[in-house]
Amino acid sequence: MAPTIDMEARFLDYVTAENKVEPKDWMPEGYRKTLVRQISQHAHSEIVGMLPEANWITRAPSLRSKLILLAKVQDEAGHGLYLYSAAETLGTSRDEMIADLHSGKAKYSSIFNYPTLSWADMGAIGWLVDGAAIQNQVMLCRASYGPYSRAMVRICKEESFHQRQGYEIMLHLAKGTQEQKDMAQDALNRWWWPSLMMFGPSDDNSPNSAQSMAWRIKRKSNDELRQEFVDKTVPQAKFLGLSIPDADLRWNEALGQHDFGSIDWNEFFAVVAGNGPCNSERIEARRKAHAEGAWVREAASAYAAKQAARRSSAAATKPQAA
Ligand code: 3HC
Repeated sequence: MAPTIDMEARFLDYVTAENKVEPKDWMPEGYRKTLVRQISQHAHSEIVGMLPEANWITRAPSLRSKLILLAKVQDEAGHGLYLYSAAETLGTSRDEMIADLHSGKAKYSSIFNYPTLSWADMGAIGWLVDGAAIQNQVMLCRASYGPYSRAMVRICKEESFHQRQGYEIMLHLAKGTQEQKDMAQDALNRWWWPSLMMFGPSDDNSPNSAQSMAWRIKRKSNDELRQEFVDKTVPQAKFLGLSIPDADLRWNEALGQHDFGSIDWNEFFAVVAGNGPCNSERIEARRKAHAEGAWVREAASAYAAKQAARRSSAAATKPQAA
């Protein structure tokens, strides 16, 4: 059925009244497309996001820290799976989404294209990257699309654990020897600006925000969320005794928030375009993992086909009730 202006207007009223949209409900094609774009990018970010941290599982400094990091990386895999499932309810298959990631057509978060050089990076990622993710994602628990909003509730709970895991590592290093403190500061210096970039381009350069906010997918703009993150994180850095690498950072009494320096948008757009320090390494690692996992997918499909054949032959031979 061709959509009418009236249907689009009724849809807008429906989501404005805070109703949830479910997979079989009518929705504007643009809404469906935006959701597939955002949810699949989000899923890819979770899966690619496992790589920088997985790099440190074998080098964690204690059994305790190794177990926690392992659990965290496994959580990210789970988040990817919930999100791919949510996107599939909109009619796009997981195979299509993964093919787009591997061909370089699909985007994923810029942040995962930076290298992890020391154990302190596990702290900075948990504290800043997962911290920024929570700042952005809590609002998504109220997204108008039911399957996405429900997936986000669990994801956000797990992200809070990740943020604390990272902050605990930073706390440990910041209260340690001078060498450990230097490692923590170095990690903060390298991860601060890329973490601010995670929120996306500034509001005047964000083509999707206005429509996504009208459809109640996003609730706050990229700049609002970035500001909230800065205001929340500055006191945490102070508590650690570390300095945020921004000479222009200062409290603005009149506005009741921090002013901060300019973001290097050339760097952001270069990373998003595939030219960050680790883009090709990340995609290559995902392609390799996919190829090496082919036998698992084949075995699972063969098993499912065998079970289905058994069920249908059992149904065919079942005596009919008199
Ligand atoms: N990295 C890569 N691309 C980005 C980006 C980033 N940090 N920020 C924005 N972009 C892209 C957008 O995807 C969009 O490209 P497209 O139109 O081709 O899809 C373009 O830049 C313009 O940006 P907009 O602001 O117009 O786009 P959105 O309205 O979609 O806002 C967003 C971008 C804030 C990232 C939003 O999509 C969002 O909230 N997504 C869900 C959360 C998410 O994906 N987070 C990834 C973080 S990592 C993570 O969650 C893993 C955790 O374990 C740490």
